[in-house]
Amino acid sequence: MKITVIGCGYLGATHAACMASLGFEVLGVEIDPTRRTALERGVLPFFEPDLPELLVEQVESGRLRFTSDIAEAAAFGDVHFVCVGTPQRADGHGADLTFVDAAVTDLAEHLTRPALVVGKSTVPVGTAARLQEILTSTAPAGEQVELAWNPEFLREGFAVKDTLEPDRLVFGVLSEAAEATLRQVYAEALGNGCPLVVTDFPTAELVKVAANSFLATKISFINAMAELCDVTGANVVTLADAIGFDERIGRKFLNAGLGFGGGCLPKDIRAFTARADELGVKDALRFLHEIDRINMRRRKRVIKIARAELGGRLPGKKITILGAAFKPNSDDIRDSPALDVAHKLHELGVQVTVHDVEAIKPARLKHPELSYAETIEEACEGADLVMHLTEWLEYRAVDPVKLGEIVTGKKMIDGRNCLDVPAYRQAGWTIRSLGRP
Ligand code: UGA
Repeated sequence: MKITVIGCGYLGATHAACMASLGFEVLGVEIDPTRRTALERGVLPFFEPDLPELLVEQVESGRLRFTSDIAEAAAFGDVHFVCVGTPQRADGHGADLTFVDAAVTDLAEHLTRPALVVGKSTVPVGTAARLQEILTSTAPAGEQVELAWNPEFLREGFAVKDTLEPDRLVFGVLSEAAEATLRQVYAEALGNGCPLVVTDFPTAELVKVAANSFLATKISFINAMAELCDVTGANVVTLADAIGFDERIGRKFLNAGLGFGGGCLPKDIRAFTARADELGVKDALRFLHEIDRINMRRRKRVIKIARAELGGRLPGKKITILGAAFKPNSDDIRDSPALDVAHKLHELGVQVTVHDVEAIKPARLKHPELSYAETIEEACEGADLVMHLTEWLEYRAVDPVKLGEIVTGKKMIDGRNCLDVPAYRQAGWTIRSLGRP
């Protein structure tokens, strides 16, 4: 079976390399020539553990190639995975489907032989049915071309593992033949006991956004509890531990702090509410607006604490921000809470220096107005206040005694609730958290 992967960004590059590692012949379609040649050398425009090595290995094995020619892909593949991005629209909250529509339309025009086109991009419910019509009406092979929807649940930082060992597979299909083909593609994971849900298009599309909405809700729920903890002197970490022991609730994704960011959760909940509005069921997802608001409030809250810690005045103060990526093990700065706070503090007249383990380069490109430092020590030198906003392990490993010798003011805000508070206190620091006394 020959596979193509259309769109070799984060999702596509990972999927292509993983499919090749399973023994399939894979052709990745990437229209950007610079990105394409970089991929062939295992050079990625983003940081993802294990992926560069896997790419090189699979390209060298001869099973993985890249092209920019969609006609070549159409002639090559039995199964075509559509992995292009669906960003937030510039003019609203809905998803921008330009890339998905273009990928499917371009491919369809060249499909002269039977093929299964498999959508992986996150799309508004109803998109798959529309794309199926485009395929059958445009493809020269007509009815012999079918669509399936197979949402992706990989997490940045764990992309390879999540692709090779998914915690579930969802196939939205119209026929048994499509299901059989997908079973062949994912034979290895299924053989290892991965749960499979076979369903229709709208359910498959909804599974993805429902999952991300639930995760966002969990995070905002615990952050709302943190607001309560702040005014009552309770401890949100202990609270999360205690409710997390209830298996129905679970402890995962109950880490209170600066809230969620990235290229998925924020845009997905917004696109979902926009879609619900179009479908006339706006009220059903009204709570997601509140989830978004709770999340954005975290950023204001941390700035308020910073101001209070610095005697009520921010202009001219030196603040070090530890973290620029939206989460650790990633260099992704899309909708990064840490970087947003850094930018807002800069606008308030603060001298901001940012450190990150992997994301300085993209952060500097997006926010050239900020200062950046290559080492934690360099970043913290002379700081009036240090703010821990992305929970890289490296930050937890810092010795508060040694750090105390570098800074001007031993003041720390732990925006991720994972620093060792007693150790900081013992070293003479004032340490403030979000939802911990
Ligand atoms: C998310 C989902 O977790 C994946 O399952 C999904 O496939 C992916 O989106 C996607 O739609 O492609 P990702 O964006 O990589 O994955 O990041 P997460 O690990 O979900 O973290 C999202 C944000 O939530 C981060 O900013 C993180 O710091 C924050 N977070 C997470 C918390 O604030 N508290 C928590 O307890 C957990």
